[in-house]
Amino acid sequence: MRCTPESVDAALRDLDAQQLRRRREIFGSGVDFCSNDYLGLAAHPDVAAAMANAALARGVGARASHLVNGHDAEHEALERELAEFTGRERALLFSTGYMANLGVVGAFADRDDLILEDRLNHASLLDAGLLARTRAFERYAHCDADAAAAALRAQHEARPNASAMLVTDGVFSMDGDLAPLPQLAAATRAYRQWLVVDDAHGFGVLGKTGGGCCEHFGLGADDIPLLVGTLGKAFGTFGAFVAGDAAYIELLMQRARTYIYTTALPPAVAAATRVALRLLRTEHWRRERLHAHIQRFRDGARRRGLPLADSPTAIQPVIIGSARDALTASRTLADAGFRVVAIRPPTVPAGSARLRVTLSATHTETQIDDLLSALEGACDAARRERAP
Ligand SMILES: Cc1ncc(COP(=O)(O)O)c(C=O)c1O
Repeated sequence: MRCTPESVDAALRDLDAQQLRRRREIFGSGVDFCSNDYLGLAAHPDVAAAMANAALARGVGARASHLVNGHDAEHEALERELAEFTGRERALLFSTGYMANLGVVGAFADRDDLILEDRLNHASLLDAGLLARTRAFERYAHCDADAAAAALRAQHEARPNASAMLVTDGVFSMDGDLAPLPQLAAATRAYRQWLVVDDAHGFGVLGKTGGGCCEHFGLGADDIPLLVGTLGKAFGTFGAFVAGDAAYIELLMQRARTYIYTTALPPAVAAATRVALRLLRTEHWRRERLHAHIQRFRDGARRRGLPLADSPTAIQPVIIGSARDALTASRTLADAGFRVVAIRPPTVPAGSARLRVTLSATHTETQIDDLLSALEGACDAARRERAP
């Protein structure tokens, strides 16, 4: 809808009428089943202490962008540790995952290129593809590696010298399923094109040591040359990084506008993230407990006939359908003491509004069992409200 100063109220009323107005709520009581703190590191005392100590020692803000005067020893050390963790030559920190995605796609895509994206990619990847203003921007059906390969083949035949960039989530943020990375990597390797994978929800959760989708599938830097991770999820802190060959990262640093023209991440956040990374890599019990919870939740949901998606990760959406029913179900859960946010269009396709349940190592088995009972009631309540 076109928006003039006079039509703002009407635009807001329109959102209300469609049950699509988003609201912020200050989180108070209840059990949180919608944050991305999958390993329970956000409130870990060692992580918090590292942040507090670094802030006292080095100040709160970075004072400048990385390329001016804001690059701190904590940033440098974290980048080295993230490179080692991901098995890449180098890593570059960004202030957010959104900025990392805009930066990496914009830095490597040329006006004459094709950008190919999974239809259900995170908004930041889709925005990155649109903002790159390349010759062609195409979206393929969700997880359809054959369609992606066919598009690469068609471009190769029509324009053998043009470049393409295939961009995908590793774990899809609203569905919890995994991209078919071995097949996508085979296709981009065959045509010698870029593959960018945003593994925001895979790091810490997937792989024996929390190495994410790459470790899960046994893929390396030759398969996935540009790997994005965010720090605000399983790491429990804030920020993001891109990892890859040293030359790629050097060029990224020279070109990424969302890296160059912004204040650096606070060094204290980098210090906290270094501790979080150590815990993520060494405290395997957190990952094991999370996976036991995922299994328990899925088994219980199946027994109760809840409409589960096919997800092996911490993201376990319960698909409701209409935005109105999803809101009703979310409110019923809130009354029962559970915070599970309703995700509605345009974040997800129309007709697939859902309760995005996320699990964490900090949950107890009893909390998961109680949530399952409450979910059953909430789905019934939504159905009853819909009935004439
Ligand atoms: C897949 C994915 N990529 C990127 C982001 C953005 O990361 P950030 O919150 O650090 O901007 C998110 C969510 O926030 C995400 O789910």
